[in-house]
Amino acid sequence: KTIIITIDGPAGSGKSSVARRVAEELGFAYLDSGAIYRAVSFYLSQKCISSNDVAKIEVELEKLTIQIDDQQRIFVNGADVTGEIRSPKVDEIVSFYSSLPVVRRRLLSIQRELGDRQNLIAEGRDMGTVVFPNADLKIFLKANARTRAARRWKELAERGVEISYDDVYYQIIQRDELDSKRKLSPLLPAEDAIILDTSDLTLEEVVEAVKKLIKE
Ligand code: ADP
Ligand code: CDP
Repeated sequence: KTIIITIDGPAGSGKSSVARRVAEELGFAYLDSGAIYRAVSFYLSQKCISSNDVAKIEVELEKLTIQIDDQQRIFVNGADVTGEIRSPKVDEIVSFYSSLPVVRRRLLSIQRELGDRQNLIAEGRDMGTVVFPNADLKIFLKANARTRAARRWKELAERGVEISYDDVYYQIIQRDELDSKRKLSPLLPAEDAIILDTSDLTLEEVVEAVKKLIKE
């Protein structure tokens, strides 16, 4: 049996950076489920298929393939979309596509298969609640919205993306709201998740705290 650790939480709580670091140190595989939702949303929006057009989305999803290589590059139907999925444009649309049951259903098996094959740290919104309900350890990271927006704004600025702090803050609040209020797999800690508030912790401190929980 493989070991599965889940890390869920809202945007900017630290899931990706923490999961990536811990996976590397433990030699576990790493699943960035948000990247899959981003890639599919980007792909559909490029094809001008609106999130209201469920019939068209269903047809697209039937022939859709997703590949992730060991450098975390992500491909939709063979096309590399890695460079495009972390833009403010995708931040704005992703929650509309990811609220759709057809989309979530299609992506569920892709995510579960990864956990059958190898020890895994999976991060996202519903890793502990829906995708891996029997995970060996479930962690839910949270932090106040201003702190999360400041982190995301800094990250975008470092990548040369021009956007104001207020816009980032507003987007984060809106995405939190959409992700938390959707009917299927809302953003929510699993009943048996350990909740960690990272607002006043450094990345280093969060990584240490998570490693400590894993050892226990
Ligand atoms: P998430 O995956 O939850 O959206 P990320 O891991 O992408 O969050 O973190 C967003 C940004 O905040 C990154 O630039 C990351 O380096 C930074 N960050 C993450 N955790 C912390 C922390 N505890 N303290 C300071 N910065 C952090
Ligand atoms: O890094 P950040 O937390 O900002 O976002 P992400 O993890 O890349 O996720 C982007 C979006 O995908 C979220 O806002 C959700 O709408 C959706 N998502 C989801 O619905 N379920 C998941 N397991 C992961 C992401």
